[in-house]
Amino acid sequence: MKKEILAVENIEKSFDGKEVLKNISFTVYENEFFFILGPSGCGKTTLLRIIAGFTQPDRGRVILNKKDITNLPPNKRNIGFVFQNFALWPHMKVKENIAFGLEIRKYPGDFIEKKVKEILELTKLKDVENLYPSQISGGQQQRVSLARALITNPQILLLDEPLSNLDAKLRDEMRSELKRIFKETGKTMIYVTHDQKEAMTLGTTIAVMKEKEIVQIGSPYEIYTYPRNFFVASFVGDINFLKGKIIEKIGEILKIETEEGLFYAKYKRPLNSENILFCFRPESITNKGENLIKGKMRDFEFLGNLLRLNIITERGNLFKIEILPKDFENYRNGEDIVFSIKKEDVILLEE
Ligand SMILES: Nc1ncnc2c1ncn2[C@@H]1O[C@H](COP(=O)(O)OP(=O)(O)O)[C@@H](O)[C@H]1O
Ligand SMILES: [Mg+2]
Repeated sequence: MKKEILAVENIEKSFDGKEVLKNISFTVYENEFFFILGPSGCGKTTLLRIIAGFTQPDRGRVILNKKDITNLPPNKRNIGFVFQNFALWPHMKVKENIAFGLEIRKYPGDFIEKKVKEILELTKLKDVENLYPSQISGGQQQRVSLARALITNPQILLLDEPLSNLDAKLRDEMRSELKRIFKETGKTMIYVTHDQKEAMTLGTTIAVMKEKEIVQIGSPYEIYTYPRNFFVASFVGDINFLKGKIIEKIGEILKIETEEGLFYAKYKRPLNSENILFCFRPESITNKGENLIKGKMRDFEFLGNLLRLNIITERGNLFKIEILPKDFENYRNGEDIVFSIKKEDVILLEE
């Protein structure tokens, strides 16, 4: 049995009459790297602040280790928080910033020293321990912010878009660092981001948010392969779609009528309507077999390991497909191109 660390139950929040969070519920288990993924403004920061105790919900409960903490102040919650803007003390050295959480809890000096040393090692900040925040790089500041949150050994660590203030290269580096620190500490974490790549590469579980609601929770694989709706499907990756209508069901196989012809899908999830979107990912095409689509190549992008082709059909439907560069001979510029989608790779979504 997985051990439950944090549960959020039916959280609702409005600011000045405007609803910002609606019916938010989820459970985070021990040693999970739980991601909340959603576009800017959908309520992610508000949700984290409610979990940490900086904001009160209008309704709902926050449960930590089976204990209702909804009305506890932040400093009584045993939750760590890494802020988007780092929020370091400018007048304190790196090691003082890190030690602060233990100082105010009045731990003995030699204990603090030992803990700071451990955390400096974990976050690779030993060389800069005596510098001030203004004297270190953005990536190092981010690490200090992480070290400071980890040192009090919180039950759970909350991270609010921790990489968004870093440039692209640093972001990649810090992403691997976060993964390492997550593995080494075994700390349960909730990480909020609008960046699907961060969520897909780091997350053990992803909750996808749209506006004020969570629309799907699952592993990165589940979310990508079985998105519940078109918003989720297109937020976590590129997707092609075509309007269609289910006209027959033969066991698990659905027969679908579309503008581009009759297609077949093997799809086990229930659908509430016969009007659907026939969808597929750019990479899930083959060059022979069932569900043929014919078009012309409009242009292509070389992505290194992959070649992405834009295909336009006679009826004007545009599809993105991805192939291996070595397969390019089968797909020539300006020539007619035929590709196919396996029944198993079709994603059917309600309109
Ligand atoms: N203290 C506040 N007062 C009024 N409106 C707020 C406050 N905090 C957030 N909001 C509003 O709530 C919505 C969600 O904001 P936020 O939680 O910051 O979203 P995200 O972190 O996903 O970008 C936004 O429309 C924002 O303007
Ligand atoms: Mg935010």
